[in-house]
Amino acid sequence: MKSISLLDLKKQYLSIKPEIKKSIDEVLTKGRFVLGDNVSKFEEEIARYCGTKYAVGVASGTDALELSLAALDIGRGDEVITTPYTFVATTETICKVGARPVFVDIDAKTFNIDPRKIERKINKKTKAIMPVHLYGQSCDMAPIMKLAGKYDLRVIEDTAQSIGAEYKGKKAGSFGDAGTFSFFPSKNLGAYGDGGMIVTKNKKVYDKLRILRSHGCQKKYHHLINGYNSRLDEIQAAILRVKLRYLDKWNDARNINADYYNVLFKDLAKQCVIPFKPKENKHVFYLYTIKASSRDKLSAYLKAKGISSAIYYPIPLHLQEVYKNLKYKKGSMPVSEKASKDILSLPMYPELTKIEQRRIVTEIANFYRKAAK
Ligand SMILES: Cc1ncc(COP(=O)(O)O)c(C=O)c1O
Repeated sequence: MKSISLLDLKKQYLSIKPEIKKSIDEVLTKGRFVLGDNVSKFEEEIARYCGTKYAVGVASGTDALELSLAALDIGRGDEVITTPYTFVATTETICKVGARPVFVDIDAKTFNIDPRKIERKINKKTKAIMPVHLYGQSCDMAPIMKLAGKYDLRVIEDTAQSIGAEYKGKKAGSFGDAGTFSFFPSKNLGAYGDGGMIVTKNKKVYDKLRILRSHGCQKKYHHLINGYNSRLDEIQAAILRVKLRYLDKWNDARNINADYYNVLFKDLAKQCVIPFKPKENKHVFYLYTIKASSRDKLSAYLKAKGISSAIYYPIPLHLQEVYKNLKYKKGSMPVSEKASKDILSLPMYPELTKIEQRRIVTEIANFYRKAAK
């Protein structure tokens, strides 16, 4: 039987192949490969899409985070509050600018940072909060923004996994001082290589980001500050402009697939907890992640049946070797630690078929039936 992968980028490419080929060919014919028309038009389109004033294209989602931190003058001696339940890029960049990540545990239902636990971690060194909108779902932004206002903190939203997601009718990424996106190929809006973007409402931040991404220059060979070489390239921007036109349709298809999974899981409620969606959120299901009993055995069983699944993330960041110096102990972030043992992401992409979804959940049911014997 044909295997089912976690995502299938080929299916998506085939559905838009002529438009993609045309857009790449136009760039090749024009011969401008760095910071051309496609990058500036794509920046305008993303800013409009997110409801922010400005957007700056950079080389990756990781760079989007690092440049945002730098643009907001966060560095040595500063603390940045974030979640331990995220991809390492979030904290890697905090450390790269010389600041210290301070972890706050997650909410057990959404897997996003728990705003109720943030205030007790704020002190004189705290400069920013970096919420991460995980799996395609916005964090609870109202209490986060309230705390930021109360303590004069910057907010950088890591929106790498959640382009198009909404909270109370506003796009994730548009609440804070900066919102960052990744166009890594697997993302809901994925390039055919690396790429990233920062959105902001703040002209000063926007101007600094543009200088930072081009070696600290406003005018060529006039270096104002120590910068980076971090630009979204023109071919990727051209590809992403085509794909942006389909993003809402694709995100809707992901939601339809998620709803169908939810129906299929009705009889497995004792063994599997389906994703939780607060009323005020529009989820975009970058990942469809369940909590499953006997998770590791289930994942191995599915693999043997030709069905991919993945664990995002098996070790929360506060327990990673690289952060030993931060001195977090096992048990200090109990919700994240528990999640890392229970969660399992199932195949999810717009083109996933109902037949495939039924096969996946049937095999999950088979696993639990056999395990109960
Ligand atoms: C939460 C999160 N932050 C940051 C990144 C980094 O993005 P990129 O791979 O484009 O550098 C990712 C990408 O996987 C991510 O999932």
